[in-house]
Amino acid sequence: MSHTPVLLQETLTGLNLRAGQTIVDCTFGGGGHAAAIAGQVRQVFAFDQDHHVSNYAADILAANPNIKLIPANFSQLAKYIAAPVDGFVFDLGVSSFQLDLPERGFSWRQDCPLDMRMDTRQTLTAEKIVNQYAEKELADLIYNYGEEKHSRRIAKNILAARQKKPLTTSGQLKAIILRGVSGSYLARNAALARVFQALRIAVNDELNILAGALTSAAGLLKSGGRLAVISFHSLEDRSVKNVFKDLQKKGIFTILTKKPLRPGAAELQNNPRARSAKLRLGEKR
Ligand SMILES: C[S@@+](CC[C@H](N)C(=O)[O-])C[C@H]1O[C@@H](n2cnc3c(N)ncnc32)[C@H](O)[C@@H]1O
Repeated sequence: MSHTPVLLQETLTGLNLRAGQTIVDCTFGGGGHAAAIAGQVRQVFAFDQDHHVSNYAADILAANPNIKLIPANFSQLAKYIAAPVDGFVFDLGVSSFQLDLPERGFSWRQDCPLDMRMDTRQTLTAEKIVNQYAEKELADLIYNYGEEKHSRRIAKNILAARQKKPLTTSGQLKAIILRGVSGSYLARNAALARVFQALRIAVNDELNILAGALTSAAGLLKSGGRLAVISFHSLEDRSVKNVFKDLQKKGIFTILTKKPLRPGAAELQNNPRARSAKLRLGEKR
Protein backbone atom coordinates (compact mmCIF):
# COMPACT_ATOMS: atom_id res chain seq x y z
CA MET A 1 0.00 0.00 0.00
CA SER A 2 1.24 3.53 -0.73
CA HIS A 3 -0.03 7.07 -1.21
CA THR A 4 0.68 8.74 -4.55
CA PRO A 5 1.26 12.48 -4.07
CA VAL A 6 -1.25 14.58 -6.01
CA LEU A 7 -0.28 17.52 -8.26
CA LEU A 8 3.32 16.97 -7.13
CA GLN A 9 5.19 18.78 -9.91
CA GLU A 10 2.76 21.71 -9.84
CA THR A 11 3.21 22.00 -6.07
CA LEU A 12 7.03 21.86 -6.22
CA THR A 13 7.13 24.50 -8.95
CA GLY A 14 4.47 26.58 -7.22
CA LEU A 15 6.44 26.72 -3.98
CA ASN A 16 9.42 28.21 -5.87
CA LEU A 17 11.84 25.97 -3.95
CA ARG A 18 15.48 26.99 -3.35
CA ALA A 19 18.37 25.31 -1.51
CA GLY A 20 18.61 26.64 2.04
CA GLN A 21 14.87 27.14 2.51
CA THR A 22 12.67 25.91 5.35
CA ILE A 23 9.27 24.55 4.24
CA VAL A 24 6.36 23.35 6.38
CA ASP A 25 4.27 20.42 5.10
CA CYS A 26 1.08 20.64 7.17
CA THR A 27 -0.26 17.24 6.00
CA PHE A 28 2.61 14.73 5.93
CA GLY A 29 0.46 11.62 5.22
CA GLY A 30 2.57 9.10 3.29
CA GLY A 31 5.35 11.70 3.00
CA GLY A 32 5.30 11.94 -0.81
CA HIS A 33 5.25 15.73 -1.03
CA ALA A 34 7.56 16.09 1.99
CA ALA A 35 10.21 13.77 0.52
CA ALA A 36 10.23 15.54 -2.85
CA ILE A 37 10.50 18.93 -1.13
CA ALA A 38 13.17 17.69 1.31
CA GLY A 39 15.39 16.81 -1.67
CA GLN A 40 15.47 20.46 -2.73
CA VAL A 41 15.60 22.48 0.51
CA ARG A 42 17.45 22.57 3.86
CA GLN A 43 14.66 21.64 6.27
CA VAL A 44 11.06 20.38 6.20
CA PHE A 45 8.81 20.53 9.24
CA ALA A 46 5.96 18.05 8.68
CA PHE A 47 2.72 18.03 10.66
CA ASP A 48 0.21 15.21 10.87
CA GLN A 49 -2.44 14.65 13.48
CA ASP A 50 -2.44 10.92 12.69
CA HIS A 51 0.08 9.22 14.99
CA HIS A 52 0.31 6.24 12.67
CA VAL A 53 2.06 8.17 9.88
CA SER A 54 5.55 7.44 11.21
CA ASN A 55 4.80 3.75 10.53
CA TYR A 56 3.21 4.37 7.12
CA ALA A 57 6.18 6.48 5.98
CA ALA A 58 9.06 4.97 7.99
CA ASP A 59 11.23 4.57 4.86
CA ILE A 60 10.76 8.18 3.81
CA LEU A 61 11.61 9.47 7.27
CA ALA A 62 14.73 7.27 7.43
CA ALA A 63 15.89 8.40 3.98
CA ASN A 64 15.27 12.12 4.62
CA PRO A 65 16.80 13.15 7.95
CA ASN A 66 15.99 16.80 7.16
CA ILE A 67 12.25 16.07 7.63
CA LYS A 68 11.19 16.72 11.22
CA LEU A 69 7.82 15.11 11.93
CA ILE A 70 5.55 17.01 14.32
CA PRO A 71 2.68 14.74 15.42
CA ALA A 72 0.13 17.52 15.87
CA ASN A 73 -2.92 19.13 14.31
CA PHE A 74 -2.10 21.95 11.90
CA SER A 75 -4.41 24.13 13.98
CA GLN A 76 -1.33 24.30 16.29
CA LEU A 77 1.05 25.75 13.65
CA ALA A 78 1.84 28.91 15.59
CA LYS A 79 2.73 26.88 18.68
CA TYR A 80 5.45 24.90 16.87
CA ILE A 81 6.66 27.26 14.13
CA ALA A 82 8.18 30.38 15.66
CA ALA A 83 10.39 31.98 12.99
CA PRO A 84 9.14 33.02 9.53
CA VAL A 85 9.50 30.23 6.91
CA ASP A 86 9.72 30.06 3.11
CA GLY A 87 6.62 28.03 2.31
CA PHE A 88 3.67 26.00 3.48
CA VAL A 89 1.90 23.12 1.75
CA PHE A 90 -1.52 21.73 2.71
CA ASP A 91 -2.68 18.56 0.93
CA LEU A 92 -6.06 18.21 2.59
CA GLY A 93 -8.22 15.23 3.46
CA VAL A 94 -7.19 11.65 4.12
CA SER A 95 -4.31 9.59 2.75
CA SER A 96 -4.64 6.30 0.89
CA PHE A 97 -3.26 4.59 4.01
CA GLN A 98 -6.17 5.91 6.07
CA LEU A 99 -8.74 5.30 3.35
CA ASP A 100 -7.67 1.75 2.53
CA LEU A 101 -7.31 0.40 6.08
CA PRO A 102 -10.78 -0.89 7.07
CA GLU A 103 -10.10 -0.41 10.78
CA ARG A 104 -9.83 3.37 10.27
CA GLY A 105 -13.46 3.40 9.12
CA PHE A 106 -13.22 6.04 6.35
CA SER A 107 -14.55 4.09 3.40
CA TRP A 108 -18.13 3.17 2.56
CA ARG A 109 -16.80 0.76 -0.03
CA GLN A 110 -15.73 -1.70 2.70
CA ASP A 111 -17.67 -2.84 5.74
CA CYS A 112 -15.81 -1.29 8.64
CA PRO A 113 -16.35 0.26 12.07
CA LEU A 114 -17.83 3.77 12.09
CA ASP A 115 -14.65 5.54 13.21
CA MET A 116 -13.19 8.14 10.75
CA ARG A 117 -10.83 9.77 13.26
CA MET A 118 -7.60 11.06 11.74
CA ASP A 119 -6.29 11.52 15.30
CA THR A 120 -7.18 8.29 17.11
CA ARG A 121 -6.60 9.94 20.51
CA GLN A 122 -9.72 12.07 20.16
CA THR A 123 -12.98 10.70 21.56
CA LEU A 124 -15.50 11.83 18.91
CA THR A 125 -16.09 9.10 16.29
CA ALA A 126 -18.60 8.69 13.47
CA GLU A 127 -20.31 6.04 15.61
CA LYS A 128 -20.96 8.61 18.37
CA ILE A 129 -22.36 11.09 15.88
CA VAL A 130 -24.82 8.70 14.23
CA ASN A 131 -25.97 7.19 17.53
CA GLN A 132 -26.08 10.28 19.74
CA TYR A 133 -26.79 13.43 17.70
CA ALA A 134 -30.37 14.73 17.61
CA GLU A 135 -32.24 14.31 14.32
CA LYS A 136 -32.01 17.99 13.36
CA GLU A 137 -28.31 18.13 14.21
CA LEU A 138 -27.69 15.10 11.99
CA ALA A 139 -29.76 16.48 9.13
CA ASP A 140 -27.94 19.84 9.30
CA LEU A 141 -24.57 18.13 9.37
CA ILE A 142 -25.39 15.97 6.33
CA TYR A 143 -26.69 19.03 4.47
CA ASN A 144 -23.96 21.50 5.47
CA TYR A 145 -20.93 19.19 5.17
CA GLY A 146 -22.22 16.83 2.46
CA GLU A 147 -24.51 19.11 0.43
CA GLU A 148 -26.93 16.14 0.33
CA LYS A 149 -30.47 17.24 -0.50
CA HIS A 150 -32.12 14.19 1.12
CA SER A 151 -30.47 15.04 4.44
CA ARG A 152 -33.73 15.20 6.44
CA ARG A 153 -35.01 11.86 5.19
CA ILE A 154 -31.63 10.19 5.81
CA ALA A 155 -31.43 11.62 9.35
CA LYS A 156 -34.98 10.42 10.07
CA ASN A 157 -34.09 6.91 8.85
CA ILE A 158 -30.94 6.88 11.00
CA LEU A 159 -33.01 7.77 14.09
CA ALA A 160 -35.55 5.03 13.35
CA ALA A 161 -32.83 2.40 12.80
CA ARG A 162 -30.77 3.26 15.89
CA GLN A 163 -33.83 2.98 18.12
CA LYS A 164 -33.94 -0.70 17.22
CA LYS A 165 -30.19 -1.34 17.37
CA PRO A 166 -27.08 0.90 17.74
CA LEU A 167 -25.25 1.52 14.46
CA THR A 168 -21.67 0.26 14.58
CA THR A 169 -20.60 -0.44 10.98
CA SER A 170 -20.39 1.40 7.68
CA GLY A 171 -22.44 -1.44 6.14
CA GLN A 172 -25.40 -0.66 8.42
CA LEU A 173 -25.17 3.04 7.67
CA LYS A 174 -24.81 2.45 3.94
CA ALA A 175 -28.04 0.39 3.88
CA ILE A 176 -29.91 3.17 5.73
CA ILE A 177 -28.63 5.90 3.39
CA LEU A 178 -29.56 3.89 0.30
CA ARG A 179 -33.09 3.49 1.67
CA GLY A 180 -33.44 7.30 1.68
CA VAL A 181 -32.25 8.02 -1.87
CA SER A 182 -33.42 6.96 -5.28
CA GLY A 183 -31.96 7.11 -8.79
CA SER A 184 -29.24 5.36 -10.74
CA TYR A 185 -26.42 3.28 -9.26
CA LEU A 186 -24.07 6.26 -9.76
CA ALA A 187 -26.46 8.75 -8.16
CA ARG A 188 -26.93 6.50 -5.13
CA ASN A 189 -23.15 6.03 -4.81
CA ALA A 190 -22.72 9.81 -4.98
CA ALA A 191 -25.18 10.17 -2.10
CA LEU A 192 -23.20 7.64 -0.06
CA ALA A 193 -20.00 9.57 -0.76
CA ARG A 194 -21.66 12.85 0.32
CA VAL A 195 -22.96 11.48 3.64
CA PHE A 196 -19.67 9.77 4.47
CA GLN A 197 -17.83 13.00 3.56
CA ALA A 198 -20.13 14.95 5.90
CA LEU A 199 -19.41 12.59 8.79
CA ARG A 200 -15.67 12.71 8.17
CA ILE A 201 -15.66 16.52 8.13
CA ALA A 202 -17.67 16.59 11.37
CA VAL A 203 -15.56 13.97 13.17
CA ASN A 204 -12.33 15.83 12.36
CA ASP A 205 -13.82 19.35 12.51
CA GLU A 206 -12.11 19.88 9.17
CA LEU A 207 -13.74 23.04 7.87
CA ASN A 208 -13.62 24.96 11.14
CA ILE A 209 -9.90 24.31 11.49
CA LEU A 210 -8.92 25.08 7.90
CA ALA A 211 -9.53 28.84 7.60
CA GLY A 212 -7.70 29.62 10.86
CA ALA A 213 -4.74 27.44 9.90
CA LEU A 214 -4.36 29.06 6.46
CA THR A 215 -4.46 32.54 8.01
CA SER A 216 -1.93 31.48 10.60
CA ALA A 217 0.35 30.02 7.89
CA ALA A 218 0.16 33.26 5.89
CA GLY A 219 1.21 35.15 9.02
CA LEU A 220 4.24 32.86 9.47
CA LEU A 221 5.52 33.27 5.90
CA LYS A 222 8.55 35.38 4.99
CA SER A 223 7.98 38.09 2.42
CA GLY A 224 8.06 36.28 -0.95
CA GLY A 225 7.18 32.97 0.77
CA ARG A 226 4.58 30.73 -0.87
CA LEU A 227 1.42 28.99 0.31
CA ALA A 228 0.22 25.92 -1.67
CA VAL A 229 -3.13 24.31 -0.86
CA ILE A 230 -4.59 21.19 -2.48
CA SER A 231 -8.29 20.58 -1.77
CA PHE A 232 -10.55 17.71 -2.77
CA HIS A 233 -14.13 18.94 -2.55
CA SER A 234 -16.05 22.13 -3.19
CA LEU A 235 -16.56 23.08 0.48
CA GLU A 236 -12.83 22.87 1.13
CA ASP A 237 -11.95 24.74 -2.06
CA ARG A 238 -14.47 27.50 -1.28
CA SER A 239 -12.89 28.00 2.13
CA VAL A 240 -9.37 28.19 0.63
CA LYS A 241 -10.55 30.64 -2.06
CA ASN A 242 -12.22 32.89 0.53
CA VAL A 243 -9.20 32.96 2.85
CA PHE A 244 -6.90 33.78 -0.11
CA LYS A 245 -9.24 36.62 -1.15
CA ASP A 246 -9.34 38.01 2.40
CA LEU A 247 -5.56 37.92 2.72
CA GLN A 248 -5.18 39.67 -0.63
CA LYS A 249 -7.73 42.31 0.36
CA LYS A 250 -5.74 42.96 3.54
CA GLY A 251 -2.73 43.67 1.31
CA ILE A 252 -0.47 40.96 2.77
CA PHE A 253 -0.82 38.35 0.03
CA THR A 254 -0.94 37.96 -3.75
CA ILE A 255 -3.06 35.21 -5.30
CA LEU A 256 -0.97 33.42 -7.95
CA THR A 257 -3.70 31.13 -9.32
CA LYS A 258 -6.74 33.01 -10.56
CA LYS A 259 -8.26 29.60 -11.30
CA PRO A 260 -7.04 26.55 -9.35
CA LEU A 261 -4.63 24.16 -11.09
CA ARG A 262 -6.06 20.71 -11.92
CA PRO A 263 -4.34 17.38 -12.62
CA GLY A 264 -3.58 16.64 -16.28
CA ALA A 265 -4.74 13.57 -18.20
CA ALA A 266 -1.53 11.61 -17.50
CA GLU A 267 -1.84 12.10 -13.73
CA LEU A 268 -5.53 11.16 -13.77
CA GLN A 269 -4.73 7.98 -15.64
CA ASN A 270 -2.10 6.95 -13.07
CA ASN A 271 -4.00 8.13 -10.01
CA PRO A 272 -7.81 8.31 -10.25
CA ARG A 273 -7.92 9.65 -6.66
CA ALA A 274 -6.53 12.92 -8.02
CA ARG A 275 -9.69 13.59 -10.04
CA SER A 276 -11.22 16.21 -7.75
CA ALA A 277 -7.92 17.85 -6.70
CA LYS A 278 -7.46 21.62 -7.01
CA LEU A 279 -4.25 23.50 -6.21
CA ARG A 280 -4.31 27.16 -5.18
CA LEU A 281 -1.09 29.16 -4.73
CA GLY A 282 -0.36 32.49 -3.10
CA GLU A 283 2.65 34.62 -2.15
CA LYS A 284 3.26 36.74 0.93
CA ARG A 285 3.94 40.39 0.10
C1 LIG B 1 -3.98 13.68 1.58
S1 LIG B 1 -3.00 13.19 2.93
C2 LIG B 1 -1.43 13.91 2.60
C3 LIG B 1 -0.59 13.09 1.68
C4 LIG B 1 0.82 13.58 1.49
N1 LIG B 1 0.88 14.91 0.90
C5 LIG B 1 1.63 12.60 0.67
O1 LIG B 1 2.12 12.97 -0.41
O2 LIG B 1 1.79 11.46 1.10
C6 LIG B 1 -3.57 14.20 4.24
C7 LIG B 1 -2.90 13.95 5.57
O3 LIG B 1 -3.14 15.11 6.37
C8 LIG B 1 -3.48 14.75 7.66
N2 LIG B 1 -4.34 15.82 8.18
C9 LIG B 1 -5.56 16.19 7.74
N3 LIG B 1 -6.01 17.22 8.47
C10 LIG B 1 -5.05 17.52 9.38
C11 LIG B 1 -4.94 18.47 10.43
N4 LIG B 1 -5.92 19.33 10.70
N5 LIG B 1 -3.78 18.51 11.13
C12 LIG B 1 -2.78 17.64 10.87
N6 LIG B 1 -2.84 16.70 9.92
C13 LIG B 1 -3.97 16.63 9.18
C14 LIG B 1 -4.20 13.42 7.53
O4 LIG B 1 -4.08 12.69 8.74
C15 LIG B 1 -3.47 12.77 6.36
O5 LIG B 1 -2.42 11.94 6.81
